[in-house]
Amino acid sequence: MERLISVLIGYLFGLLQTGYLYGKLHHIDIRSKGSGNAGTTNALRTMGWRAGVVTLLGDAFKCVFAVLLVRFIYQDSHGDMLPLLSMYAGMGAVLGHNYPFYMKFKGGKGIATTAGLLLSTTNAWMVLICLCVFLGIVAGTKYVSLGSLVVVIVYLGEIIYLGQSGAYGIAQNYLYEMYGIAAFLMVSAFFKHRANIKRLLSGTENKLSVGKSQ
Ligand code: G3P
Repeated sequence: MERLISVLIGYLFGLLQTGYLYGKLHHIDIRSKGSGNAGTTNALRTMGWRAGVVTLLGDAFKCVFAVLLVRFIYQDSHGDMLPLLSMYAGMGAVLGHNYPFYMKFKGGKGIATTAGLLLSTTNAWMVLICLCVFLGIVAGTKYVSLGSLVVVIVYLGEIIYLGQSGAYGIAQNYLYEMYGIAAFLMVSAFFKHRANIKRLLSGTENKLSVGKSQ
């Protein structure tokens, strides 16, 4: 039951579509511009720097807040499960972000929201590694999608590494479930990026660009 409640809490937080709402405030439907995706890259591409930064922070921190709330609720009754329940909350946030019911299930691709989970479930070194990998790929290729896809693989590797090294303490019983959630997030990111993958393979993927500020 606590797993389901954690996913549900995450889903509700995930529904807060920062890029979509930012666009609405400026009379723009982000889903009809650029790649049509309601995420950070498309906010940056179609509405400028400010929109990109606001979308990144909003989409990442809604996940952090969902994780914090779940930890607060279960800290006394399910202390040993907190790392696992955090992962479930993050999974819910990504699902809410990617498939918001009030937008006909057409949301974003979940990368900024997964970054929020990275912040909540790993440590400063792991965050730094992901950041360097992501920025290195984007700086070298100008393909945000490629950086996003590589980083979700790195995140799965980090969760397994931390799990095997005992970083999740008394949550050892739940390690394989945690690996499963990180693997699900990776597969889900690849699924959401299937059009990007086709374009990457055919050399027609959109490169990073910054639109006019709104
Ligand atoms: O996180 C989304 C990014 O990887 C790709 O965005 O708008 O180019 O499909 P977009």
